[in-house]
Amino acid sequence: MNAEGRTRLNRTPEWSALGKHRDQLGEVSLRELFDADPARGTGYTLQVGDLHLDYSKHLVTDETLALLRELAAATGVAELRDAMFRGEKINTTEDRAVLHTALRAPRDAVIEVDGENVVPAVHAVLDKMGSFAGRIRSGEWTGHTGRPIKNIVNVGIGGSDLGPAMAYEALRSFTDRELTVRFVSNVDGADLHEAVRDLDPAETLFIIASKTFTTIETITNATSARDWLLTGLRADQSAVAKHFVALSTNAGKVADFGIDTANMFEFWDWVGGRYSFDSAIGLSLMIAIGPDRFREMLDGFHLVDEHFRTAPPEENAPLLLGLLGVWYGAFFDAQAHAVLPYSHYLSKFTAYLQQLDMESNGKSVDRDGVPVEWQTGPVVWGTPGTNGQHAYYQLIHQGTKVIPADFIGFARPAADLLPGLVAQHDLLMANFFAQTQALAFGKTPEEVRAEGVPEELVAHKTFRGNHPTTTILAGDLTPSVLGQLIALYEHKVFVQGAVWNIDSFDQWGVELGKVLAKKIEPVLTGEDKGEELDGSTAALVAAYRSLRGR
Ligand code: F6P
Repeated sequence: MNAEGRTRLNRTPEWSALGKHRDQLGEVSLRELFDADPARGTGYTLQVGDLHLDYSKHLVTDETLALLRELAAATGVAELRDAMFRGEKINTTEDRAVLHTALRAPRDAVIEVDGENVVPAVHAVLDKMGSFAGRIRSGEWTGHTGRPIKNIVNVGIGGSDLGPAMAYEALRSFTDRELTVRFVSNVDGADLHEAVRDLDPAETLFIIASKTFTTIETITNATSARDWLLTGLRADQSAVAKHFVALSTNAGKVADFGIDTANMFEFWDWVGGRYSFDSAIGLSLMIAIGPDRFREMLDGFHLVDEHFRTAPPEENAPLLLGLLGVWYGAFFDAQAHAVLPYSHYLSKFTAYLQQLDMESNGKSVDRDGVPVEWQTGPVVWGTPGTNGQHAYYQLIHQGTKVIPADFIGFARPAADLLPGLVAQHDLLMANFFAQTQALAFGKTPEEVRAEGVPEELVAHKTFRGNHPTTTILAGDLTPSVLGQLIALYEHKVFVQGAVWNIDSFDQWGVELGKVLAKKIEPVLTGEDKGEELDGSTAALVAAYRSLRGR
């Protein structure tokens, strides 16, 4: 039992029923499942907005899905979802509401936190962002020397970087190609160096993105960016107002840094960092694609929010995807989950999902602080097709691990693709379909032999198949479709955290390293002797100091 009187997950009858069912399925094969139900390819699909979702190539039957839905019901997924949408403080370890869904709610919605409707403030910030983005795009906003802004540099890390950086790539064909937009996150000075070395400070705007405005990487890079700007312009502090804006919840720290709070775009503590991309944190993207396209993206998010909130369990896509992940983690010992977009524009999508999923569900104690006895979040990884096919797909096809994978593809290439390149899209998508086909159905030894392969090579050329995949197909990669995709994954992660009974919205695991780095830095510079360091770290620090000639 936990504090709410709930039976622990792995002692519930629903969990046991799934375990028994898994035993009965035994070595079930996708070939058999499709032979038994040839209509599976159309039956095991869902349409959510523009997303066609095919889950037919999963190792599940109708019974599996029913049992998984029973587990969701028993673990209170719907109740927690409704509490989240209502603005209740479901992030219990930080005593915070979890309301990224309010960031894309329509203007007339009413969503209360501590008795206050937060929707008007959300739209006030969006309007302020829209007017600022418009002034930058039109050239009305000028820098210290009177020149219009041509370069945007977003300085932030984690949730204050990955979302806008990913979406800027994803929506390149919708961006103003006259603007240069770059993202700096790493405290390694090389990151900022490469981002600014060819830019003219007179035409450069820095967007300092930090929810807390205390994150050491961001504040260090922002300070260096300010030095670079003022040196380059041969200007004093007064130039900062025209070249620096802040995205934050912390007005005090923004002012301390020297940014006029009139140039601050606010968000709130009920927006988690990794869920903040469609808050003010999206300003760089909004400047790049324009306010109207940004709002289309928010509408895409909202469409999936509403689907998640209202669709019945049998048709609820985030619920389904979340439960499939629970199924493989618990009953197939799957440790990893691959996300494989067949769109070069989604080259940063999986990196974005890594934070979303792994920072949310990389937990090993439940909401009461009791160690879990079941798998929680998987290792999320992947890169765009077809590159992965010539690298690590070998392991997915013939290795020893179970790696469920999501394949994401689009029927049409970007509208502004050079006409001579459009024909390549069918080849890209032929690979997309071929991979899920090969992963599901493999190639039997008999089929290999029938090709005249010598007996000693048959085992090497056999593909066992049965690798589960989800296919997500849409017409075009538009701002709305990107919003739909992100919301789908946000809610999938939510479902899994709810079933596993973990707090998906805190991230205590990032703290220890931050504290230790603060203690080690003065040892590296020689300000501190480092007498408290453990033997291993002390030896490494000594080696470092010797290599630096200290
Ligand atoms: O890595 C921890 C973390 O707190 C993330 O959750 C967050 O997205 C990132 O750091 C950046 O935080 P901030 O926006 O406060 O600078």
